[in-house]
Parts: sequence; C-alpha cells; structure tokens
Amino acid sequence: MTADWTGSAIAMLEADANRSADTHLHVFPLPAEWGIDLYLKDESVHPTGSLKHRLARSLILYALVNGRIHDGSTLVEASSGSTAVSEAYFARMLGLSFVTVVPRSTSQEKIDLIEFYGGRCHFVDAASDMYAEAERLAAECGGHYLDQFTYAERATDWRGNNNIAESVFSQLSRERHPIPSWIVVGAGTGGTSATFGRYVRYRRHDTRIAVVDPEGSAFYGGWANQDPSFTTGTPSRIEGIGRPRVEPSFVPGIIDEMIPVPDAASIAAIRLLKQRTLHWAGGSTGTNLVGAFQLIARMLRDGERGSVVTLICDGGARYLDTYYSDDWVAERGWDLAPHRARMEHFLSSGEWREE
Ligand SMILES: Cc1ncc(COP(=O)(O)O)c(C=O)c1O
Repeated sequence: MTADWTGSAIAMLEADANRSADTHLHVFPLPAEWGIDLYLKDESVHPTGSLKHRLARSLILYALVNGRIHDGSTLVEASSGSTAVSEAYFARMLGLSFVTVVPRSTSQEKIDLIEFYGGRCHFVDAASDMYAEAERLAAECGGHYLDQFTYAERATDWRGNNNIAESVFSQLSRERHPIPSWIVVGAGTGGTSATFGRYVRYRRHDTRIAVVDPEGSAFYGGWANQDPSFTTGTPSRIEGIGRPRVEPSFVPGIIDEMIPVPDAASIAAIRLLKQRTLHWAGGSTGTNLVGAFQLIARMLRDGERGSVVTLICDGGARYLDTYYSDDWVAERGWDLAPHRARMEHFLSSGEWREE
C-alpha cells in the first residue's frame, strides 16, 4: 500500500534525523580586545560530510509528502557534488535507486563517494546539459527528478524545525553577542542563504545576510543588476558554490550584501584555517571566511562590536588532490601568497587591505 510505504519512508528519515547529533558551532580565534566574535558552523560533520545532508533529507521528504516518490521509484538529480552524495545515502536508506547527472570532469573522489552510497553517475559533456538530461532520464525511467536548484528554497522549512538557522541561534544563546551582526554564506542552489534570510526576518532579528560569490558566477551580477536572467556561462572552480546562471532557489530579496571573492583567496583561506584551527575544509568554506574577514574589518573600522557567523560547508579530505595540492593550484596559475599576506595582516591589525 503506497500510504504505508510513504509513512514508513518518512519514519525512516525522521529516525535518521533523530540519530544525528546537531553540528558544532566552533569559535575562530580573534584578538579578544576587538570585541568581535567569529563562529564557524561545522556542517562537515554530518553523516554524509556536508551541509547538503540537511537539504537532501528535506528534498526527499518534500517529494514524499507531495506523492512524487513511491516504492520502487528511481530518484534522479543534477549534481556532481555534495547534494548527490547525500541523496544517494538517503535513497539507499529507502531502498530506492539513485542516479545523478554529472559533468564528465567530475573528480573521481566525488564519483567514488556517490557510488559508495549506492548511487550511479550518468555523464554529460557540458555542465549546462545537466538539467535537461536529468529531466529526460527521469521521464525515461518513470523516476522523480529531485531538482535541488528549483526546490531547495521550497523544501527547507525556514520557520525552524531545527533548520540550520534555528540551530545557529540556539547555539549562540549563551554567547556575549547572541544575535549575530552578520551571517555569511555562499550560494550553490541559494537554499542556505534563503533559509537564513527568511529565518532572521521571521524572528525579527536585525542580523544581516551576506552572500559571497566566486569568480565567474552569475549570482553577483544577477543580484547587483536585479536581473534573474543574468548568466555568465562560466562553471565555478569552487565546488558547491557559484553557478553559470541565477538558479531558481536564489532569493535576492533576503540578501543585504554580496561579496565577490577571488578563487585564489578562497584556497588561501582554507589553508590558513587549517593551520590556525586544524579544521580541514573545502573551498566554499574559504570563500565564506574571506567574506567574514572583510565584514569584521569594516565593523572594527566603524567601532561596531558583535558576532559574525559563517559555515564550514564540507570537509577538506575531498580536496586533497585539488585545493590542497600545490601542483594543482599552480596549474591554475593561482598565487595564494598575496591573499595569505592580506589575511595575516588583517588577523594581526584588524585592517583589510583592498587589492
Ligand atoms: C560544499 C558546498 N558549499 C556550499 C554550498 C552552497 O549551498 P546552497 O546550495 O544551499 O546555496 C554547496 C551547495 O551545493 C556545497 O556543496
């Protein structure tokens, strides 16, 4: 009986959530006399290693309660990254097949991770072909296209229900600045920034939302020009964030500020993070950190005290042969040294030197 299967599937997802402890909120060490605290919400400790564990659970729950998934359904996605890894995990839990459409350039590590959880990768030559191919595959096999880029902002409960925002605010409740001045995140689907932005408005906190964007991404241009059709056609080099087009789940209205960040700066930042805190993170965490440093420098300049929160989005082990490889970085012509020097200067003086 479909209702029984759907009911037991939902119960399994709820049980998984119940088994999972909440992710940590770490302190990034800043000089105490600044009167500003920087926090890192560590989403890399989720069972599937990234912030996408929450989204994957929400997307599958959303499809279940909408009657779009049944016993024996095949789940389809367009993602080469963290989302596919997490969706494969939940599909296996529900005894469903999972196939994700990925660009042929996807790293073997990511493919191995998706296959480790029982998923199958379907390759396309160009990243821009992923959406249509996922639609076609789902229609061909009578499966369901989970479509993170469209449904991320709809599937996540922005009011609470232990979403990432509610978790952060409850973990800050005993800190000296419990209501952060800024929350800094990147955008891949745009779902995470939408959840934070809606939550702080719903709770009437005067917390501002800043979204960082890597080189070649369409989000910054789309937001700055208020043009949802803005495109760059350029794939991002920082996994998980930055898109060649403005995705449907990107909600510009909740964003107070966008900060473009050079890719080399993102990579320099995660290496600095590892040395200063032993936290080993992926590139999008570096992009977050550079944005957070800039805002903290401005707060210091303006005599503002308070707290800033950003995310560790996924773990660094996935990027051993890329972002943490000097050869790989050099092949891309990225000079990390000037970015490193700027961050070191900031951490000792509080001043952020412009490029
Ligand atoms: C590693 C990583 N960081 C950040 C993000 C951005 O999250 P969102 O899709 O919620 O905008 C993603 C999204 O895929 C990601 O994989």
